Amino acid sequence: MFNPEKFIEKTISSLQKEIKAKALIAFSGGVDSTVCATLANKAIGKQLIAVHVNTGYMRKNESEQVKKMMEDLSLNYRFVDASKEYYLALKGVEDPENKRKIIGEKFIRIFENVAREEKIEYLVQGTIAPDWIESGGGLRDTIKSHHNVGGLPQDMELRLVEPLRDLYKDEVRKVARSLRLQVSDRQPFPGPGLAIRIIGEATPERTELVREACDIVEKEIERASDQKIIERPWQYFAVLIPIRTVGVHGDKRAYGNTIAIRAVHSVDAMTCHYSMIPHEVIDVISMKITNTLKEKVNRIVYDVTNKPPGTVEWE
Ligand code: XMP
Repeated sequence: MFNPEKFIEKTISSLQKEIKAKALIAFSGGVDSTVCATLANKAIGKQLIAVHVNTGYMRKNESEQVKKMMEDLSLNYRFVDASKEYYLALKGVEDPENKRKIIGEKFIRIFENVAREEKIEYLVQGTIAPDWIESGGGLRDTIKSHHNVGGLPQDMELRLVEPLRDLYKDEVRKVARSLRLQVSDRQPFPGPGLAIRIIGEATPERTELVREACDIVEKEIERASDQKIIERPWQYFAVLIPIRTVGVHGDKRAYGNTIAIRAVHSVDAMTCHYSMIPHEVIDVISMKITNTLKEKVNRIVYDVTNKPPGTVEWE
């Protein structure tokens, strides 16, 4: 039986032994990196520098909120706005694995720059078990390269420390609760962000569409679960399928993109079942998205695929 208090005690002490110089932590504001940063902060204090990268593929207002979190946690932090750089690097890139690798590599290069400036030698990452299990290695097939594993370049200059690598998400949440972190029940958000929620090229224009749609899905699903209409799913978001179909707006022909709504129940992300969201909730989401993104989006579909054979994210 997993004991979060014991895990916290053991991890702080092993981090103190393992990290012998300044360390950097990639801080996304999700449960994994927040738990990891809190433990490392307790272990090595100001020797730890948290770095948040705004890739341009974050959710609505997310980077501003993350900045505030780093302040509230009294972390020594750096905030890097690299959105323009990311958009440029992903220009014309359609293949999901290429997208993931480019994003992962860019993260590491940014961290290496900060590390050089701050004379940092260690990189602390919130990698958890499903991240590396599904990223392949040994006899395992690569299902997808999670950015914090598969995207790591061979010539990385920093020494990697991954205190959560044997934990599953439910265990990380238990640690978060035990540390009294507000993020303990936040839904997971992938490292490559909205870039893998856009099928094909992740242009800035498409990103704005999926950002808005994700925001609507999150708000409406949270509203429905607060009102006890549904049980809050494990993860819920929107995916942009940049395939245009014909519709009608008022008395005018429309020819817009498609948005898929994805909501799943899972225990550890290794498998999932799509959530049976009542039609009344889907209806509100559908209307809000098509009203907000008029002319750009005129078709909404609901994803009824489990994992396997699907995965949680579409790319
Ligand atoms: P999949 O799509 O592989 O997702 O079924 C399983 C869980 O992992 C999240 N995910 C990621 N998390 N870096 C992460 O930190 C990644 O590159 C990544 N890709 C997927 C996904 O959101 C789901 O919770």
